[in-house]
Amino acid sequence: TRETPLTAGLVPWPVARPRRLRTTPALRRLVAETRLSPADLVLPLFVKENATAPTPITSMPGVVQHTRDSVRKAAREAAEAGVGGVMLFAVPEHRDATGSQGVAPDGVLNRAIRDVVSEVGDELVVMADLCLDEFTDHGHCGVLRADGAVDNDATLDHYARMAVVQAEAGVHVVGPSGMMDGQVAAIRAALDAAGHTDVAILAYAAKYASSFYGPFRDAVESALRGDRRTYQMDPANAVEADREIRLDLAEGADVVMVKPALSSLDIVARAAAVADVPVAAYQVSGEYAMITAAAAAGWLDLDQAVVETLTAIRRAGATVILTYWAASAARRLR
Ligand code: PBG
Repeated sequence: TRETPLTAGLVPWPVARPRRLRTTPALRRLVAETRLSPADLVLPLFVKENATAPTPITSMPGVVQHTRDSVRKAAREAAEAGVGGVMLFAVPEHRDATGSQGVAPDGVLNRAIRDVVSEVGDELVVMADLCLDEFTDHGHCGVLRADGAVDNDATLDHYARMAVVQAEAGVHVVGPSGMMDGQVAAIRAALDAAGHTDVAILAYAAKYASSFYGPFRDAVESALRGDRRTYQMDPANAVEADREIRLDLAEGADVVMVKPALSSLDIVARAAAVADVPVAAYQVSGEYAMITAAAAAGWLDLDQAVVETLTAIRRAGATVILTYWAASAARRLR
């Protein structure tokens, strides 16, 4: 017991002192339980058809819609920074009810896949979004029935064709983000039947209907009115996330993803407990916008907030993180 005049006999001497391991930067580094490395990070990239110059995205300061040339350059810079991969999204010139540009071999996304694979395909993992929403004139992730509802099973055929076209363009990993039931099985079967057994599936397994996708919808000039609550998950649910993850694993997912990241860290931890494959998390556009805006106002330190959030996502159990800061964070981590 510690003896001071005021507390004699009252305050126990702290025998256990966790602060001891926080004394110096070297000690803190030695005992850090979670480490980030550039290879964990995946950079999402937007490419806009027929764009003549990179176009800033107002709600995502620092992120642009790329031209065909600038996306190659961005992928090259990402590779030089040591990031693990890139995830391609496209903004097509023409949209229609079935998203036909998504399955056109010379559509903007499939051309971008070819370009980026030829630029950096040996150095990093080239992934592409596999979804209809960027290509449909109604902005939904699937085709619609006559009554306007998303037609789950008819959509699967479109995803299956899209997967094969992306594989033929050279993609390494497809990222089905539409949350249709059975999408992973449909895509795996189509890829295998076409001989693309090596193309992996990063499944958006637990993807919540989230307000944090707002800036992304600016980035892809989304045509969506309304919401995606009939297919994306209700943020109220966690047990349902376990089920979605188990289903995607059973259907052949190679990586399962949780999205958004910061508002779903509990789900990331559950995914890590359920899955026997790598778990990914997507630090989405709204997370990027929030931190960027607060930093621009001088209310927090950008670099510290980025490292802190990425570390928290890793600590929760994700080994792969999609983040718009992938290249800048990778440069700082090196
Ligand atoms: C759908 C898709 C979305 C995002 C990734 N894939 C948008 C949506 O579901 O509405 C969001 C990513 C982000 O907000 O950064 N193709």
